Amino acid sequence: MSETIYDVPSAWSDKAWANDARYQEMYAASIKDPEKFWGEHGKRIDWFKPYTRVKNTSFEPGKVSIKWYEDGTTNVAHNCVDRHLAKRGDQTAIIWEGDNPAESKVITYRELHAEVCKFANVLKAHGVEKGDRVTIYLPMIPEAAYAMLACARIGAVHSVVFGGFSPDSLASRIEDSDSKIVVTADEGLRGGRTVPLKKNVDSANDKVKGGIGTVIVVRRTGGNVAMQAGRDVWYHDEAAKVSADCPAVEMNAEDPLFLLYTSGSTGKPKGVLHTTAGYLVYTAITHQYVFDYHDGDIYWCTADVGWVTGHSYILYGPLANGATTLMFEGIPTYPSISRFWEVIDKHKVNTFYTAPTAIRSLMGAGEEPVKKTSRASLRLLGSVGEPINPEAWEWYHRVVGDRRCPIVDTWWQTETGGILITPLPGATRLKPGSATRPFFGIRPEILDAEGKVLEGACEGNLVIADSWPGQMRTVYGDHQRFMDTYFATYANKYFTGDGSRRDADGYYWITGRVDDVINVSGHRMGTAEVESALVAHPSVSEAAVVGYPHDIKGQGIYAYVTLMTGESPSEDLRKELVAYVRNEIGPIASPDLIQFAPGLPKTRSGKIMRRILRKIAEDEFGALGDTSTLADPAVVDDLIENRQNKR
Ligand code: WT7
Repeated sequence: MSETIYDVPSAWSDKAWANDARYQEMYAASIKDPEKFWGEHGKRIDWFKPYTRVKNTSFEPGKVSIKWYEDGTTNVAHNCVDRHLAKRGDQTAIIWEGDNPAESKVITYRELHAEVCKFANVLKAHGVEKGDRVTIYLPMIPEAAYAMLACARIGAVHSVVFGGFSPDSLASRIEDSDSKIVVTADEGLRGGRTVPLKKNVDSANDKVKGGIGTVIVVRRTGGNVAMQAGRDVWYHDEAAKVSADCPAVEMNAEDPLFLLYTSGSTGKPKGVLHTTAGYLVYTAITHQYVFDYHDGDIYWCTADVGWVTGHSYILYGPLANGATTLMFEGIPTYPSISRFWEVIDKHKVNTFYTAPTAIRSLMGAGEEPVKKTSRASLRLLGSVGEPINPEAWEWYHRVVGDRRCPIVDTWWQTETGGILITPLPGATRLKPGSATRPFFGIRPEILDAEGKVLEGACEGNLVIADSWPGQMRTVYGDHQRFMDTYFATYANKYFTGDGSRRDADGYYWITGRVDDVINVSGHRMGTAEVESALVAHPSVSEAAVVGYPHDIKGQGIYAYVTLMTGESPSEDLRKELVAYVRNEIGPIASPDLIQFAPGLPKTRSGKIMRRILRKIAEDEFGALGDTSTLADPAVVDDLIENRQNKR
């Protein structure tokens, strides 16, 4: 554990929204009287009808219910667009940087308003009404922002599916959300290569019961795609028929805003449901304080809008604050490994928010590709998605930030809507590798396996003891699953699924997932999902998937596969299985290592002992622990002998 401490530079404590004293004071106030604190901060957005009730939440077993500002009405698109028009109509809302560095454009708040209204009118013309779900399967182009805000404007619920997901994954999300409409593009463009989005939608269509009603296709590359009459329409044709004016519908604070599917330890991905007002208040306040956002700042979050980071910190938080937000279509290594830093110089980016996996992969190419750029505009760096190892932190700080820029290591989840544990740049002394302290209103606790609350310096399971406005409200269509997943492990607490250490200064160090979820390059993957993809292959009889430490991805996917009788292991089959999983789920689920195992370690009752499989995958089999309860202890010797991660 690194114990280096970086003090807050005085330039930061002087000018930031919060210095340490202010943080302490606001934090204490937010915990002492959440009603009062959030009652005041609710005013940071515009209301059509003001709320009189602030917090009405219960984590009680069997009766979990979360409501914030429940009698107020507002509209998210109004808050992210319309209300800025008077003061900053000509200010850039979105800087779009294409995959090809020769392609970029800026969209002002006034232009954004017109585009969102047009998109909303196109959706309405195709029958979308308040409460309907709309699946968005788009690349990182401005139309993704227009489409999301258009849904918010008319009260439709968007479900964005990351463009890297396969037709199967897309189909199950369309079906689960019961979306009649899918918005896509002809093709995506990443690193100079095209992604066949429309073709994937066509394949997904065949797997959705009853098919997809309408497919709206945005022209991105001009690639040749088949359009099916009666189902598929070009967005530009439809947009030409509608007006650039569309009223923002009055929404209740607790009306759904969006669904976002995320992997858990069991079963198929869950539709995480976020609602209107609390989510917007929470993303706006965190964007302001965590990134110390001030008018005029150029802010860049490198996530994809297909993930929650893109929702909360490319779109909703920044736009609610009237910020200029950069949207990048490409990848960090195209056309060269200096791309991130070139984009920073090109657009004079002040705040840069990315994932540890990107830092680690760029570290490998050395300092020169970074140092040859200026990065003089940079003031603040951020990290999200997985634990950042101190080496990567130090490199990010020294090489990218020239030792000048604080780093905010922000811990949160799809479920939390926004950042929960994080430094504030003007307030928090930094320790590389620690997400440091809770944001306003957040009550983290560390529990042992029995549910006892641990005090002081300790390590255990991370829970949050009370609600905050950005919290998810339910699993779409399955409130019981919501309660079982997050509130059944420990009564009256939200269980995060993460482990954490807390040091003597009260700083939190996230140690990673304690459930069967693995974090690959900052993306969450349920081991059960990869296993069910593997066993769907005709040669496979059984599969068990675990994570193992990976230098760049954080965790890699390690699959133990038992073949059907008569099948024999081969390199070709190994490749085929990797391709099979990619095809079933998407490239992010590709196993890194596959071990053909004649048998898996099971208890006498038939339960696979994952603890043992994890240890072997980590190449740490000296510490296997008790194997005496295994039905056949001999299988372990074979597993060790043929392990794939000999280090
Ligand atoms: C899981 C949530 C939060 C948006 C992106 C991922 C891990 C996230 C950190 C961090 C250590 C982190 C946790 C969490 N995680 N941020 N700063 N330090 N771990 O969202 O896909 O819902 O994944 O990502 O394990 O539970 P997600």
